[in-house]
This record gives sequence, structure tokens and C-alpha cells, in this order.
Amino acid sequence: MIKGKKVKLRPLQIEDAKKTIMWRNDPVIKKMAMMHPFQVTEANEKEWYEQLLKDKNGKRMFFAILDEKNEAIGFVSLNNINKNSRHCTLSIVIGDVASQGKGYGKDTMMTILNYAFTVLDLHKVSLEVIDINTKALQLYKDLGFTEEGRFKKHFFVEGNFHDVINLACFKETFSLH
Ligand SMILES: CC(C)(COP(=O)(O)OP(=O)(O)OC[C@H]1O[C@@H](n2cnc3c(N)ncnc32)[C@H](O)[C@@H]1OP(=O)(O)O)[C@@H](O)C(=O)NCCC(=O)NCCS
Repeated sequence: MIKGKKVKLRPLQIEDAKKTIMWRNDPVIKKMAMMHPFQVTEANEKEWYEQLLKDKNGKRMFFAILDEKNEAIGFVSLNNINKNSRHCTLSIVIGDVASQGKGYGKDTMMTILNYAFTVLDLHKVSLEVIDINTKALQLYKDLGFTEEGRFKKHFFVEGNFHDVINLACFKETFSLH
């Protein structure tokens, strides 16, 4: 268990599937987190967990985000962990809509970045954001992420193409926060 100020992060487990399937089928979350547009079925979700739980190559870590009442409110992951070049990618979803905008996302980011930079000793964490996700963009910029590139008109949703922005945070930059 990794402890933040407001949240705790514990490895995602099959019991979380009841919630993650709802979050992964929420149209706003699908759009903002750039998930595939198709309905996630129970069979898809089970298969996803089976792959996740048997994955022992150490290249990705999925955590459930717990609030003060130990209720799972979202998930966060470190992916493509490269131990040689010491970088990875990150994705985060506060899936419980009632828990959004209350500081859980920010605390989760602080906690997971601190873990990535100190325990895993990585030096760079990258992520991708759709241009309309102003809330996430503001959060990442406040934490020290800077833009590294932009895929123009790259993600199609609700009839429009959107830019996808690549942001990165370095250990040195993050430690200033
Ligand atoms: C984006 C997300 C992770 C932010 O987490 P959150 O818990 O809702 O946000 P927080 O309450 O921690 O706020 C963090 C920052 O986001 C920004 N923010 C939050 N709510 C906002 C709003 N309504 N409008 C504009 N900015 C907002 C602010 O910069 C805020 O920092 P501040 O409190 O210091 O001003 C969360 O809303 C989420 O998972 N959304 C759906 C999926 C998604 O977009 N995932 C990210 C994909 S890149």
C-alpha cells in the first residue's frame, strides 16, 4: 500500500472489476482518457484483469485509488516501465464522478510520481492528453509537466479530430513541487 495525504494506492484486484467496468464505459471518461469507443463487456473486463494479474515482466503497475473511507474511486497506472532508460508512461482515472474536483487526482499524481521517482528511481514520466481535457492539462502543468510534442488531429471522438499532447515530468522538475 502506498500512502498519500488523502489517498492510498493498492494493487488493482479482480474485485475492482465491478467498478472499473462502469468507469471504462462512462462516455465522458472514455473521451477524456482517450479509451477505445466500444462498450467494455464483462468478458472483456475479466480478460483484461487476467492479463494484468499474470503479467510478471515488471513493465506495468496498476493501482486502485482509495479515498479516506478506503473506497476505490479510480485507478492509476505506470506503463512501459523502462529500467534501462528509467522512464515510463502514466495514466489516471478518477472514475467516481462525485469524487472528482476534490483533490484526489492531484494527491494521486503527487503520490505516484513520488513513488516513480524515489522507489522505482525513474527519471522521467510521460503521458498523453486530449486537447479538450483542460482540467487534466492544468493539473499536469501545475505538477511540473511540460509539453514535448503534439500529434495533430490524432484522436477522433464525437465527430471531431483532436490534438493529442505529449507531456513529461522529470525527477528534478518534480522535486521542486
Ligand atoms: C483529470 C482528473 C485526474 C483530475 O482529478 P480530480 O480529482 O478531478 O482533480 P483535483 O480535484 O485533484 O484537481 C486538480 C487540478 O485540476 C484542475 N481542476 C480540477 N477541477 C477543475 C475544473 N472543474 N476546472 C478546471 N480545472 C480543474 C485544477 O488545476 C486543480 O488544481 P487546484 O485544485 O490546485 O486548482 C480527474 O478529473 C479524472 O480522472 N477525470 C476523468 C478521466 C481523465 O480525464 N483522466 C486523465 C486523462 S489524461
